[in-house]
Amino acid sequence: MRLDDLDLKPEDYAPKPPAGQRLKIGIVGCGAIANSAHLPAYRDFGYEVVACMDVDPQAVESTRDRWGIPRGSTSLATLLDDPEVEVVDLAVHASVRPDVLPEIAAAGKPILSQKPLAMDWASAREIVGSVEQAGVPLMINQQARWAPAHRAIKVLIDRGVCGALYSVAHVRRSWQDHPDRWWRRLKDFNVVDHGVHYIDLARYFTGRTPDAVSCATALVPGQHSVSPLCHSLLMHFDNGDLLCTEHFNNIVSSPAAHSDTWYLDGAEGSIVGTPQWVEASRKEEPDRRVRFPIEGRWFPDAFGGSMAEMMTAVTEGREPLTSGRDNLNSIKTAFAAVRSSEENRTVRLSEFD
Ligand SMILES: NC(=O)c1ccc[n+]([C@@H]2O[C@H](COP(=O)([O-])OP(=O)(O)OC[C@H]3O[C@@H](n4cnc5c(N)ncnc54)[C@H](O)[C@@H]3O)[C@@H](O)[C@H]2O)c1
Repeated sequence: MRLDDLDLKPEDYAPKPPAGQRLKIGIVGCGAIANSAHLPAYRDFGYEVVACMDVDPQAVESTRDRWGIPRGSTSLATLLDDPEVEVVDLAVHASVRPDVLPEIAAAGKPILSQKPLAMDWASAREIVGSVEQAGVPLMINQQARWAPAHRAIKVLIDRGVCGALYSVAHVRRSWQDHPDRWWRRLKDFNVVDHGVHYIDLARYFTGRTPDAVSCATALVPGQHSVSPLCHSLLMHFDNGDLLCTEHFNNIVSSPAAHSDTWYLDGAEGSIVGTPQWVEASRKEEPDRRVRFPIEGRWFPDAFGGSMAEMMTAVTEGREPLTSGRDNLNSIKTAFAAVRSSEENRTVRLSEFD
């Protein structure tokens, strides 16, 4: 392979609407993420949202008005009884999901649920088991996999740029120590709620789930959040041929110092990726690297891509890429990381079987 042959174009990585049938969407939970990411993406992708529901009537009305959704309700039963709703887009918090999932599953409607799957292992297993038992498709909205830069990295991996991957490292520097947002009070927010995206991406890029993890955290004096917003996570693989590291410092006070970079190294070459560009280099062209500017953004574009995968999987009768069953591996890695940081030891994922 020559670097010049790679010729990566936006159509190679941009999230796209489904080639086949488009299902009509009913949204449950009309909060920040539904309004700032789901609905803008669905408008851009031409998806039809036929109903929305929230326990807060103001959230229902403002969301209906803003996005021109035909029907809105504060009753989940009303949304589920709506014969036009073909897929339920669940955008409530993990703490609320056990209250609503049994009713949605009993209605037999396919579910695209926001991440994180759950905030504890017993709930995660219970959710996946009970929805599977009801025979209803469940996908977890790990939409970072459809973010243009992440898709571009995956396309380059699949084209063989790296050969056998032996090292994957991600460094993210950002700031989320908001004194007045819900996540300030959420235990393990950084590792489990936000950090599960990067664990899931490491699994996506490598096609593998770690066997054990070590994780350490740092609490900044005076921070607002109840849990550390800075952690370093080491993912171990038993046969010793791969190492993944995640350094997520989410309390970097100066926006000018923020960054988000993936480094992927294999026996044949390397990929470096940021949200703005992706670079490839190869051992047989030692003095060169090629850089591809990335078109499109994670927010909101990726949300159109994850919904496209949901619709395609349901139409084709197959398991979605980030099904509930698959996602148990990502969330289990996050829970193992929390246990590792709390008990100051390496934790095997088999502790969660
Ligand atoms: N990149 C991402 O995928 C991403 C980004 C942000 C948030 N999230 C996730 O999305 C979820 C929601 O986050 P948010 O920021 O939108 O929160 P939010 O608090 O802004 O919205 C949650 C909404 O759920 C509603 N609600 C509560 N109980 C309900 C019930 N029983 N039935 C229907 N609606 C109910 C609330 O009234 C509120 O409008 C969280 O799990 C969060 O982790 C994901």
